[in-house]
Amino acid sequence: MTNKNMKSSLMTTKGILKLTCMCGVGLLLGACRGQISEKPPIHPNMNMDQQPRMEAQEVNKFFEDNRSMRQPVAGTVARGLKKDDKAYYEGVDANGEWVEDMPVEITRALLYRGQDRYNVYCAPCHGGTGDGNGIIMTGNYGYVPAPTYHQARLREATDGELYSAIYNGVRTMPSYATQIKVEDRWAIVAYIRALQESQNASESELRAEDVDVEQLEAEYTAEQERLAALAEARKPEKEAEASIDQGKKLVQQYACETCHNVDGTPGGIGPTWKGLFGSQSQGINEAGETITINKDEAYIRESIVAPEAKKTEGYEQGVMAPYDYLSETELESLILYIKSLSDN
Ligand code: HEC
Ligand code: HEC
Repeated sequence: MTNKNMKSSLMTTKGILKLTCMCGVGLLLGACRGQISEKPPIHPNMNMDQQPRMEAQEVNKFFEDNRSMRQPVAGTVARGLKKDDKAYYEGVDANGEWVEDMPVEITRALLYRGQDRYNVYCAPCHGGTGDGNGIIMTGNYGYVPAPTYHQARLREATDGELYSAIYNGVRTMPSYATQIKVEDRWAIVAYIRALQESQNASESELRAEDVDVEQLEAEYTAEQERLAALAEARKPEKEAEASIDQGKKLVQQYACETCHNVDGTPGGIGPTWKGLFGSQSQGINEAGETITINKDEAYIRESIVAPEAKKTEGYEQGVMAPYDYLSETELESLILYIKSLSDN
């Protein structure tokens, strides 16, 4: 190649580069946004972005029923949506009764998974040990108290019933079905069973497993102290005189009206308070014996701090958590308020 030839070929390369640069700048400027235009945006590569299609609910004359949305072929189920194992998916047997035992194998891995999910989804309210003292319950946020799992009713509850609390929700507790997958729901149930076991082991059982009982006792005392401090912190700084007004406010603060009403409407989770004071009804005591209950001041007080002691007929299920951390003035105010609902 001669010198001259080389020069001219270089020029051409330069020329092409120049042209490319200019085109590039042109394109960049052309792509500038921010200007208002009536024209549709340039869409050089369609990629099948627009094509004829039916909208949801649109009429479609092509089919006899004029619907564009088609029904599944009769007798078929979409892949992955066959859920006819009711015990597994809903926790109930063929008669719609809660299954007694969980339909999955309990393994160490399942329990660990349950612990992990429990601490994410349930512990904030039900507490790390399941005693109902989760962090959300430690502030005055107006939540219905989460019950402890360590009460006879929930210890005796079937696995299906516990599963149902997660799957369907229960009264004021929302369902977690959209957030927790089926296998994890059973893992959580298994873990709740483990928590229940852990709170009911006898000393001899523990010693037989080589557990350091003294250490456990120390931890227990520390926890009781923490709870006592918590109850102390829950109390308002300056206690006002007991009054009907304070009672009304407390009812709001503790969300009592989630379960009780004051206008006599039947069908609540708990009995109405209208006309409660001074009335009489049948009920049961803790031994399960039928008794007549006089709804006097002492009974109202007991119903708030120890609702399990006596239960009114029709409400034997007893879902009320004890409000045993209320101060004396708070209790008096609540009683004054409930009593005021029996005037006139
Ligand atoms: C936001 C707080 C909150 C969270 C989170 C929560 N719960 Fe609850 N839970 C409650 C409350 C409140 C009740 C009592 C509802 C009532 O009686 O109205 C309850 C009741 C229950 C009960 C008792 C059902 C019965 O028959 O009395 C079970 C079991 C239960 N929850 C399990 C769970 C599990 C498992 C999770 C985690 C997947 C969970 N809860 C998460 C607040 C919560
Ligand atoms: C989760 C639902 C629930 C919440 C929240 C609740 N209760 Fe109850 N309560 C019940 C149920 C159910 C009964 C009846 C069974 C029993 O006595 O345990 C009851 C019974 C009572 C009774 C006795 C009524 C009677 O006719 O025997 C009183 C008084 C009472 N509650 C006061 C309160 C107060 C005060 C609060 C709020 C600080 C409150 N409750 C919050 C469910 C609830």
